[in-house]
Amino acid sequence: MAAPAVVKLHAAAALLSLGVGGAVLFMRKGTSLHRRTGWVWIVLMTFTALSSLWILEVIPGSFSPIHLLSILTLVSLALAVWRRRAGDIVGHARAMQGAFYGLLGAGLFTMLPGRVIGRMLFGP
Ligand code: HEM
Repeated sequence: MAAPAVVKLHAAAALLSLGVGGAVLFMRKGTSLHRRTGWVWIVLMTFTALSSLWILEVIPGSFSPIHLLSILTLVSLALAVWRRRAGDIVGHARAMQGAFYGLLGAGLFTMLPGRVIGRMLFGP
């Protein structure tokens, strides 16, 4: 609870992204519900990735390798939209799935000892 506001907002957006992204992956594709929920997911993921640029905790005061995932996520989301507009459905699905697996991976890594969620789960 003592974490800075940006960390709380980042973690909240990431957790919402897990729920919304999971739902989009399993729902019927191509419907207007898929498109609208997909855009909600893109907004949440963009917020998650951008907000992380203001979190400099793993290497205090400096960017860490995890920030590469933030850039990769933004690139994947843009690529997914671009591929869909170009009619490349398989490419669109791959880029979206890649961004979702990145989210899952980042979520798992937050449980490492010493990180905020790790400390919440397993103590100091
Ligand atoms: C369920 C998923 C996620 C949760 C619960 C979560 C939670 C957190 C928390 C609590 C922190 C702050 C302090 C710490 O490092 O422990 C953090 C930092 C960070 N997160 Fe996430 N996050 C998630 C997903 C993501 C995703 C998808 C990205 C990239 C797109 C991301 C990128 C980062 C980065 C770059 C940092 C800063 C690391 C540093 O201090 O160098 N996170 N996250």
